[in-house]
Amino acid sequence: MSVPSSAARTYRITALAGDGIGPEIMQVGRAVLDAVAAQMGFSLQWQEGLIGGAAYEATGDPLPPETLKMAQESDAVYLAAVGDFKYDTLPREKRPERALLGLRAGLGLFANLRPVKIFPQLVEASSLKAEVIAGIDLVVVRELTGGIYFGQPKGIFTDATGSRRGVNTMAYSEAEVDRIARVAFELARKRRRKLCSVDKANVLEVSQLWRERVTAIAAEYPDVELSHLYVDNAAMQLVRWPKQFDVILTENLFGDILSDEAAMLTGSIGMLPSASLGSSGPGVYEPVHGSAPDIAGQDKANPLAQVLSGAMLLRYSLDQPQAADRIEQAVEAVLAQGYRTADIYSEGMTLVGCREMGEKILATLAQQQASPQGSPSAAGG
Ligand code: IPM
Ligand code: MG
Repeated sequence: MSVPSSAARTYRITALAGDGIGPEIMQVGRAVLDAVAAQMGFSLQWQEGLIGGAAYEATGDPLPPETLKMAQESDAVYLAAVGDFKYDTLPREKRPERALLGLRAGLGLFANLRPVKIFPQLVEASSLKAEVIAGIDLVVVRELTGGIYFGQPKGIFTDATGSRRGVNTMAYSEAEVDRIARVAFELARKRRRKLCSVDKANVLEVSQLWRERVTAIAAEYPDVELSHLYVDNAAMQLVRWPKQFDVILTENLFGDILSDEAAMLTGSIGMLPSASLGSSGPGVYEPVHGSAPDIAGQDKANPLAQVLSGAMLLRYSLDQPQAADRIEQAVEAVLAQGYRTADIYSEGMTLVGCREMGEKILATLAQQQASPQGSPSAAGG
């Protein structure tokens, strides 16, 4: 076997395990990444940082400056999940979720990619009919550092009469729309060349400008077919006939909502990875799901979204697409062998915990290495 040109390279990866099931799924994700790195002849130098509730407990700050600095100085950031019910009463600035927003802003991660692909083995796990969801393969491109999450003015203000008023502002500059639109067009170009931009241009000025700029940028990509949907219609189309979508481009809040909806098409949000990218510097790779504090520490969590986020990390930040393929193939193979965590379990399958699911993936990777030509299940012949 020829040695890849990136042989012996060492990458610096920041691991942010966070809260709830974060540490358990992180352990599996790291083991899988280390295994595939060893197979492909590169290595990962891990550095662990505190984030979320865990960071708040230790330092009083959900995103300590050392964590942001460590992230900025690494090749990629591998994040699990943050949050716990017990922090719900903290002031907003101290809440674990603030750490995610701080990390996005601090690393300039304006592009959030959330691929939604249905594994044939899991078609039954969806609440939708098999014919509606079989073969879904779409990506939500969510703008991540603008819109109503960050727009000014924001706050809770008291007026002259003493009555309080909560304010957030959905705002986008032309430059912000242009750069996220280009990310989405470039991605569509590598896929089925269909881009659907989602807005609320029938009501919101900010969406009128969004639509105008996306349409203008489309001139640079004549090979990509552009369409527009209002967000309410998009929400409906996603459950009516999701296969019509290839790349969905949308602003921050709409993307937050639509990506959860799109995730559930697959039956479990526990399967979906994400990548958050800036124009340069490290990306952040994390599952779309949250910290699930209700099952934390019980070895019940599904680590597959974390594992698949590792594959995205290899593909987008380390430029190791073959290593990424290996991980994705191993996940498919393990599902084909019938192993399921509780969230994706169906009758006749083998129920496993978080740790065992990780072991099955590692075993499959080792088998793939031994017989690189065929899938492990076909390797007998
Ligand atoms: C997500 C989450 C976050 C968001 C929260 C936890 C701040 O829902 O990544 O989708 O709203 O962006
Ligand atoms: Mg969300």
